[in-house]
Amino acid sequence: MTEFHALVPAAGFGARMGGELPKQYLPLVGKPMLWHTLSALCACPEIATVFVVLSPGDVQFHSYDWSAFGDKLQPLYCGGETRAESVANGLLASELEPDDWVLVHDAARPCITQAQLAKLIDELRDDPVGGILAVPVADTIKRADATQRIECTEPRERLWQAQTPQMFRAGLLARALCSNSGVTDEAGAIEALGLQPKLVAGDSGNFKVTYPQDVQLAELLLQKRRA
Ligand code: C5P
Repeated sequence: MTEFHALVPAAGFGARMGGELPKQYLPLVGKPMLWHTLSALCACPEIATVFVVLSPGDVQFHSYDWSAFGDKLQPLYCGGETRAESVANGLLASELEPDDWVLVHDAARPCITQAQLAKLIDELRDDPVGGILAVPVADTIKRADATQRIECTEPRERLWQAQTPQMFRAGLLARALCSNSGVTDEAGAIEALGLQPKLVAGDSGNFKVTYPQDVQLAELLLQKRRA
């Protein structure tokens, strides 16, 4: 039977965030950011295993208590130089069946909800390619020149902002990442094979915590849900 698994690349340092602590361990409502992300994925009944890909030199992970997630959570110390390399290494180490679905989700998107996960899985479970959560671009988009002045206004029709999870068959994704390692998301590697992943409409609450001001917003959202 085809299974669903999650894989969370969490081997980055979060250079745009600044600070000493890698971004995934920043405290949010009393827990590291990674805890909220893994908690949401572990709570999804369709997902059998949640693999978290850590840097081989990670010393933080084991200083927290993950026992609440039991055996469903599997740490893999095989992160690479780039996100794509971390995902590719994680897929190899996870030893999933080629037909199993894998939901790759950023550690830095702790506000993912059960409704968004269920929608992604339901819309893609019979899809021949797979797809991603995404939101249509709402703002007007400007292209800058080298002096940070507006060069032109880009038409925003049919533009979407890619989010995660990005859901593909493990075998196809491993093959795609092997031949296209320069991509910034999994869908990019699949597209390079000439395939067209589906866009599943999510919402802006599933944003990526990237800059210091995002931390406060994530805390507010998580606190509101808890209340
Ligand atoms: O840096 P950015 O926010 O784009 O990272 C997205 C995700 O990829 C984060 O969860 C980060 O920890 C992960 N990552 C990784 N290995 C790297 C770089 C980033 O697992 N070498």
